[in-house]
Amino acid sequence: MKQNEHIAKLSSGYLFPEIAKRRRAFASAHPDARIISLGIGNTTEPLTPHICTAMAQYAQALGTKSGYSGYGDDSAGVMELRDKIAQVLYNGAVSAGEVYISDGAKCDVGRIQQLFGSGVTAVVQDPAYPVYVDGSVMTGAAGGARVDGSGYEGVVYMPCTAENQFFPSDLSVIPENALIYFCSPNNPTGAVASKAQLAALVAAARAKKSVIIFDAAYAAYIRDPSLPRSIFEIDGARECAIEINSFSKPIGFTGVRLGWTVVPKELTYEDGSSVARSWERLTNTIFNGASNIAQQGGLASLSAEGQKETRALTDYYLANARRIREALSQSNFSAAGVEVYGGDNAPYVWVRFPGRKSWDIFDRLLCECHVVCTPGAGFGPAGESYIRFSAFGHQEDVAEACGRLARFSV
Ligand code: MLT
Repeated sequence: MKQNEHIAKLSSGYLFPEIAKRRRAFASAHPDARIISLGIGNTTEPLTPHICTAMAQYAQALGTKSGYSGYGDDSAGVMELRDKIAQVLYNGAVSAGEVYISDGAKCDVGRIQQLFGSGVTAVVQDPAYPVYVDGSVMTGAAGGARVDGSGYEGVVYMPCTAENQFFPSDLSVIPENALIYFCSPNNPTGAVASKAQLAALVAAARAKKSVIIFDAAYAAYIRDPSLPRSIFEIDGARECAIEINSFSKPIGFTGVRLGWTVVPKELTYEDGSSVARSWERLTNTIFNGASNIAQQGGLASLSAEGQKETRALTDYYLANARRIREALSQSNFSAAGVEVYGGDNAPYVWVRFPGRKSWDIFDRLLCECHVVCTPGAGFGPAGESYIRFSAFGHQEDVAEACGRLARFSV
């Protein structure tokens, strides 16, 4: 058998396993080091009581004749959950029938790419969550890695750096019939696009007959009420956008697995046919629906009690982010010109070390502080010189990591 030629084009391993490999190598050479991971955005705190109880009771009932259920009628999920998402999280701006429950945002990013095939150009914010680009390469929508390290052929990178407040300066680079991946609150930069910025993005997408894949997985971390939590707060988005979202980061479902995708009725292909219809066809073919136990947890999270728990859990991680920001604003960092971004409406802190290589900073922090971060270059060419700290960690570990950072000689 030959390898799928598109998978063969990927330049290296997926970012997070690579980080884990370096961490393991360091740990085996230094068995006494207590390594603290602020690398991958993996939740650490226990499930909250109301949500956990709902799942436990449902799981128990599955062991009875009356409480047992198998597959759903289709892969789109329990209608009560779809309806609650539309009402509680979108205030009715989308309908229950437009909400498709999934096993997580990452899985849906991969499936969505199949809707448009190998002929489309992928447009990404640079830096970006690696799945957008790597997934595009795998579906054949992009070429191989460029030898100069500036990304993949056939992908349009829109640099988002401190110079443009992490929003693309030039949306005119978006070609016709492209898939535009846009993440807000952003992973990795922690920046949140304003309504005016998203309105500009929607206008650009519509002018180029392109589709936005809007990743709102961190929307529950927005505290500034003026910032949009959904692309569907923007006029015209229903004609050009799909939104993906997740229960992972708001309620700690990274292991439980539950997410959703909104495909509006107005979204059509160039021949006028419905994107939602082909999404249903695709998901019903290759996906059997999200776990019914997980869906009960998602449903519980959307009750008044569940929303209170969600708020408390996200506040916990935001307090970590604040602490990390403070540590990185101390004189050992500021005197070296280090700049700190994000972390106020997002669980990621994005840090620039002017003139340095991000993997070098990663290695030094691992060796000298025993703290794992994520090197910005792993998120795209414009991530070079930056590193990312995740706020997902036990507060006592974050406090310990911050103490070590205070002693770091930049
Ligand atoms: C990360 O950037 O750390 C990722 O978000 C992990 C994930 O896939 O959720």
